[in-house]
Amino acid sequence: MPKRSIAIFASGSGSNAEKIAEYFAGRTDIEIALILSNNPKAGVIERARRFHIPVLLFDRTGFYQTDQVTSLLQKQGIDLIVLAGFMWLLPASLVQAFPNRIVNIHPALLPKFGGKGMYGHFVHEAVVAAGEAESGITIHFVNEQYDEGQVIFQANCPVEPTDSPDEVARKVQVLEHRHYPRVVDEVLQRLG
Ligand code: GAR
Repeated sequence: MPKRSIAIFASGSGSNAEKIAEYFAGRTDIEIALILSNNPKAGVIERARRFHIPVLLFDRTGFYQTDQVTSLLQKQGIDLIVLAGFMWLLPASLVQAFPNRIVNIHPALLPKFGGKGMYGHFVHEAVVAAGEAESGITIHFVNEQYDEGQVIFQANCPVEPTDSPDEVARKVQVLEHRHYPRVVDEVLQRLG
C-alpha cells in the first residue's frame, strides 16, 4: 500500500498536532508531511521542529487570494488534511479540492456551541453560561460552513455546576488527545 500523507493546520499551541505526530511516529504507512499555520507565533511551530516536520506559514492574502496553499498540498500528494485548532475558515477552493478529505475537531458537542466565533475558550465559557450538564468533542468532515460537515465521532464528559470554563477545557482536552489521533488513523484506513 502506498504511504499516506497528512497535512495538519494549526493556529495556536498545537497540543493536538503534537499528539497526532506522536501517535504516527514510527509508522511506515503514514507520515505527517507538513504543518501549516497562519500564526508565526503559534506554539505548534516549535512542536513541529521537535518532530522534524516542515512548517509552512501563510498570511491572509496568500491564503484567500492565491491558490498557493491548495497547489502545494496537491503537489505534495496530501491524502488527508487535519485541522487541529485552526481558526480561519477554509476557502471554498481548498474544500472543493479535498472532498471528504478534511477533518476538524471542535471542543463541544455539535451542533451545540458551534459556528463563527465559537472557538477555544469562548466555547467553554458558553457551555458554562448555558448551565450544560455535559460537554465533549466532535470530530467531523469539513465543508464550506463553520462546524457543519458530517460528524465522524463524538465523546462526552460531565460538566459539574461548579466547573469553571478552564475546568471544562481541561476535561475536553483529555478527550481530544485520547481520540483525535485514533480517529484520524481510522479515517485514513477508510480512504482505502
Ligand atoms: C482545541 O481544543 C480544538 O478543539 C479547538 O482549539 C483547540 C486547539 O488546541 N478548536 C476550535 O475551537 C475550532 N473551532 P491545541 O492548539 O492545543 O491543539
